[in-house]
Amino acid sequence: MTPANQRAVDRQHDLGKLTARERIDLLLDKGSFQELDLFMRHQASGFGVEDHRPAGDAVITGYGTVDGRTVFLFAEDFTTYGGSLGEAVADKICKVMDLAMENGAPLIGIKDSGGARIQEGVVALHGYGRIFERNVRASGVIPQVSVIMGPCAGGAVYSPAMTDFVYQVEETSHLFITGPEVIKTVTGEDVTMEELGGAHAHATRSGVTHFVVPDDRSAMEEVRYLLSFLPQNNMEVAPFFTPIDRPDRMDEQLTTIIPDSPNQPYDMVDVVASIVDDGEFYEVHESFAPNLIVGFARLDGYTIGVVGNQPAALAGTLDIDASTKGARFVRFCDAFNIPLVTFVDVPGFLPGVGQEHNGIIRHGAKLLYAFSEATVPRVTVITRKAYGGAFLVMNSRAVRADIVFAWPTAEIAVMGAQGAVNIIHRKDLREADDAESERRRLVDEYEDRFNNPYVAAERGYVDDVIEARETRPRLIRALSMLRNKREAMPPRKHGNIPL
Ligand code: HXC
Repeated sequence: MTPANQRAVDRQHDLGKLTARERIDLLLDKGSFQELDLFMRHQASGFGVEDHRPAGDAVITGYGTVDGRTVFLFAEDFTTYGGSLGEAVADKICKVMDLAMENGAPLIGIKDSGGARIQEGVVALHGYGRIFERNVRASGVIPQVSVIMGPCAGGAVYSPAMTDFVYQVEETSHLFITGPEVIKTVTGEDVTMEELGGAHAHATRSGVTHFVVPDDRSAMEEVRYLLSFLPQNNMEVAPFFTPIDRPDRMDEQLTTIIPDSPNQPYDMVDVVASIVDDGEFYEVHESFAPNLIVGFARLDGYTIGVVGNQPAALAGTLDIDASTKGARFVRFCDAFNIPLVTFVDVPGFLPGVGQEHNGIIRHGAKLLYAFSEATVPRVTVITRKAYGGAFLVMNSRAVRADIVFAWPTAEIAVMGAQGAVNIIHRKDLREADDAESERRRLVDEYEDRFNNPYVAAERGYVDDVIEARETRPRLIRALSMLRNKREAMPPRKHGNIPL
């Protein structure tokens, strides 16, 4: 290592970052890494770069295994030309992307780069374009994961943005189209790098980032964990893991988890954790739109994708962010043969001028579209509220759920009893001597009549009303029945999801 390289490595370590090679060692099974193109050098000239042509240039590429399964990767090397991307770097990345596609294995991109190699100009820009196009081509064919471990700015952000899952390391990683200085010049806004493009900003506000990790080491551990839930490609199913949990395990605690008052929250994550194998639920996008939970778990050893309303946040209503979050997750699961299990407790869409004007109609339609077009096995459990359009969106029978279960506490109706009584009995209430007691009587009457699962079950919209405690065995039996499900959408170039 030259003294300059050593200085760059020391600087990387001083910032709390690992080098590209150290990251690869942590990601892959010991000794499994097979490097490609170590001897490749850039062919550029000008600005003195012809005198600095390090072997391998500013990215390390290759393949190896994670838990014995092949993965392809590229890791940008900030210690060489600041990890910047010129023609040689783009050639190396494109080659490994092509190999990943042709051989049906996940692609992991480790990002730590100053962006387009300034000395190479438009050639560098063209390199990014070639990578973007491959990201799109690979979408829905192999899982693509991006791990942001340093700077990632300008148009370069569009490569991770098009991958399936984005990890960001706290404090040392930043993603933005235009940085704080440009923003200050153009709009006059003052913002720090961290506030603008740090892990928490993107995990909570923009939704670009799915997972926040404290350091490089845990980033690599979490990516390994994520891969354990995923198939290698769209032609395979996810790996099977024998659970400690019995398939017929009942959970008495579920019987009392729904509070007596319909407006009282509970945590849907507790419901999911008590049903799935060994209580293991890997939540995706945990900090973004917490009113909808999505993530991976297993039932009797098989991966499932979980989507659930979260009554503990915004009363579990669907808003713009929840709809886009859910839609993207549902589409990932559908593309990669992962059955969907949906837990429903939804009082409706979130009311508000902001929601309407920012497009809840357009964005809510995404979730409806995503469920409707999904051909993987789809099972729904209605735990409490299932009101109005939001009930239909949340993988209802009408949009071709395969099996719909409801707990006895389910309330499946056009709207809540209070709202319904206010509308259909407005005149009676105006004329009543004691409007309050009349309202209570009418609400009780409405609840008795509609706020239960049996009206929907009579019509076959609900297949069975099950005891909460038997949810695990019932889901396992339903998914086992659906294992060979074959369903195809009509032939067409592609649908036109409302974007
Ligand atoms: C060539 C680069 C480079 C780049 C960094 N370096 N970015 N070399 N092209 N884009 C080099 C530096 O010259 C330096 O070399 C070494 O990498 C480390 O950089 P430092 O600036 O010392 O590091 P640091 O202080 O940590 O700052 C990191 C940084 C800064 C914030 C990323 O380097 C930076 O602002 N770089 C430029 C970012 C940028 O504007 N890129 C183009 C964006 S446009 P020496 O030899 O001194 O060690 C873009 C468009 C893509 O990317 C469009 C796709 C469609």
